[in-house]
Amino acid sequence: MHSAYSDLWSATMHTADSIRQESPIVEHNFSKMIHVELRSFVTELDAGASASARRLHKEFDMSWFQTLLDAGGGSGGLAIAFWKLCPKIRLTVGEFGNVVPITKECIESEDLAETIETLEIDPASSQPTSTFDAIVLRSVL
Ligand SMILES: C[S@@+](CC[C@H](N)C(=O)[O-])C[C@H]1O[C@@H](n2cnc3c(N)ncnc32)[C@H](O)[C@@H]1O
Repeated sequence: MHSAYSDLWSATMHTADSIRQESPIVEHNFSKMIHVELRSFVTELDAGASASARRLHKEFDMSWFQTLLDAGGGSGGLAIAFWKLCPKIRLTVGEFGNVVPITKECIESEDLAETIETLEIDPASSQPTSTFDAIVLRSVL
C-alpha cells in the first residue's frame, strides 16, 4: 500500500504550486502509465475502495440499485466489495482501455468474471453507452 499513497501524497503537496502556475507540476496520466506501474498503483488502493463500498452501503443501502457503474474503478476493488455486500446488483467497472486488462485480471482472481462486467470508457470525453441506476466515481480526478 505504501507506494501508491506515497505517490498520491507527494503529488498532493504540489497542488498549490500547480494552481499558482496554472499547469500541473506532477503529471499523473493513467492512460500513459505502463502495465506494471498501473497494476501496482490501482491494486494498492483496494483496501480504501472496499471501505468506501461499505460506507456507501451503510449510508444509502446500495441493494436498492439494480445496476451500478464504477467509473474509473481501477482494479475493481469497490465493485468486488459491493458484490459481497449486495450480490444482486449488476456491477460494471469502467476504465481506460489500457487499464481494463488489469481490472479483468483482478476480477478473475476473485472468480467473479461472470458476475462483474468491464467496460472501456472515458467519461471525460464521452458518455457511457449503457445506462445505470447509479454511477460511482472514487478518487478519479
Ligand atoms: C486513483 S485511481 C482510483 C481507482 C479506484 N476508483 C479506487 O478508488 O481504487 C484513478 C483511476 O481513475 C481512472 N481514470 C481517470 N480518469 C479517467 C477517465 N477519464 N476515464 C476512465 N478512467 C479514468 C484511472 O485509470 C485510475 O484507474
